[in-house]
Amino acid sequence: MADTYHHEPPYTIGVICGSIAGSSINRRLANALIKLAPADLQCSFIEIDTLGLYDRDLDGDYPPEATALKKAIEASDGILFVTPEYNRSIPGALKNAIDWASRPWGTNSFARKPVGIAGASPGGIGTAVGQQHLRSIMAFCNAPLMNEIEAYITFKEDDYDANDNVVNESTKEFLETYMRSFDNFVRRVLTVVPQAS
Ligand code: FNR
Repeated sequence: MADTYHHEPPYTIGVICGSIAGSSINRRLANALIKLAPADLQCSFIEIDTLGLYDRDLDGDYPPEATALKKAIEASDGILFVTPEYNRSIPGALKNAIDWASRPWGTNSFARKPVGIAGASPGGIGTAVGQQHLRSIMAFCNAPLMNEIEAYITFKEDDYDANDNVVNESTKEFLETYMRSFDNFVRRVLTVVPQAS
């Protein structure tokens, strides 16, 4: 495979929500982030809810859902995870999706892909511990990680309207800054790290 270098924006961003719940607050946060993203970023969700459990016996005959997941990640210029924390780690559904995308061996779809991580919980820790686990996993998957700024969001219903627009001004400003930082980060990574094509 040939390496390709930086291309100009817009950048396509695959947004992976770590929760498959219909009522997910992380889905709502992801919606809000997408709405606040700079015009440089064209964000769309990559869904993980139809995947079966990863089974390495299927490495020679990947299921279509898993192949579609890999292709969607590979077609993206960057990946934004917005995930809950489950038992001080990431949800099994998300880990399962990452396992599918990282395999078969030698075809890891996350390699060199700029990655941002955000998350929301009802509590004060705001998914910080789960996000650290995800950082560890993504580091092993050879994905450059945005380290600054971090987004540990305590989800407060009153901060959002029914369409997931942020109505709290300071929250809005913070989330806007996060997406601007992610835009800059994606640009910097794509400038110096050639992407497989
Ligand atoms: C949780 N929750 C949770 N919250 C947290 O801050 N730290 C944690 O370790 C956990 N652990 C945990 C485990 C399991 C199995 C569940 C179902 C929940 C609470 C969690 O933050 C809350 O349910 C969120 O609403 C989940 O995110 P979504 O699905 O609403 O996006």
